[in-house]
Amino acid sequence: MEKREELYAGKAKSVFRTDDPNRFVLVFRDDTSAFDGEKKEQLNRKGMVNNKFNAFIMDKLEAAGIPTHFEGLLSGTESLVKKLDMIPVECVVRNISAGSLCRRLGVEEGQELNPPTFELFLKNDALHDPMVNESLAVSFGWASAEELARMKELTYKVNDVLKALFDDAGMLLVDYKLEFGRSEGQIVLGDEFSPDGCRIWDKETRKKMDKDRFRQGLGEVIETYEEVGRRLGIQFD
Ligand code: C5P
Repeated sequence: MEKREELYAGKAKSVFRTDDPNRFVLVFRDDTSAFDGEKKEQLNRKGMVNNKFNAFIMDKLEAAGIPTHFEGLLSGTESLVKKLDMIPVECVVRNISAGSLCRRLGVEEGQELNPPTFELFLKNDALHDPMVNESLAVSFGWASAEELARMKELTYKVNDVLKALFDDAGMLLVDYKLEFGRSEGQIVLGDEFSPDGCRIWDKETRKKMDKDRFRQGLGEVIETYEEVGRRLGIQFD
């Protein structure tokens, strides 16, 4: 496999073509951004930590029968993934209230949500990823009703697997965002799962152990990501 030219640079990751038209290289960079790119910083080791974190989680999800684009680690900051036809809608599950839900509904952070909620957001930085629903997604042709049903089913299945995984390691999975794409007629989990795209709290102290440390200027961002990883049994260099 040969890495070729850069195809796309996102806010924290870049995608490179390879000599295989069906495989891309994902490069996890140290760039960290929040508030649609308004707050930006380079955090040393973040690319490596998130790459290894994501590899560990994707392996767990594959083992639980969830199809993912992840094929393997290539280096500290690079992973090989399947090419997907990405669906421009983000799926968010929440087990505990936090973030935009609290701002939108004026509810307090930390309420248990039973059953966990499921929301859709359109991927559009210029519009700040507005909340959408299934009807809009189908009418605008972003995804079919069947695809959305499968995305919801898989997003909840991820919740069952990961809530237990974090719980066993003394942490609460508060919420997370997933992105899906199409590959050979199947809905497949794409993008990444790392502390950049979820909220994780310590079970006892409720200490924030995710990107809210960066968003809220709480400090020790990467040290805390590494602590989450170590508790799960991930080896970093
Ligand atoms: O901001 P909000 O509370 O809606 O985010 C819910 C979850 O989805 C959080 O874990 C957040 O990190 C994640 N998210 C994300 N990328 C976005 C929007 C939300 O990773 N564009």
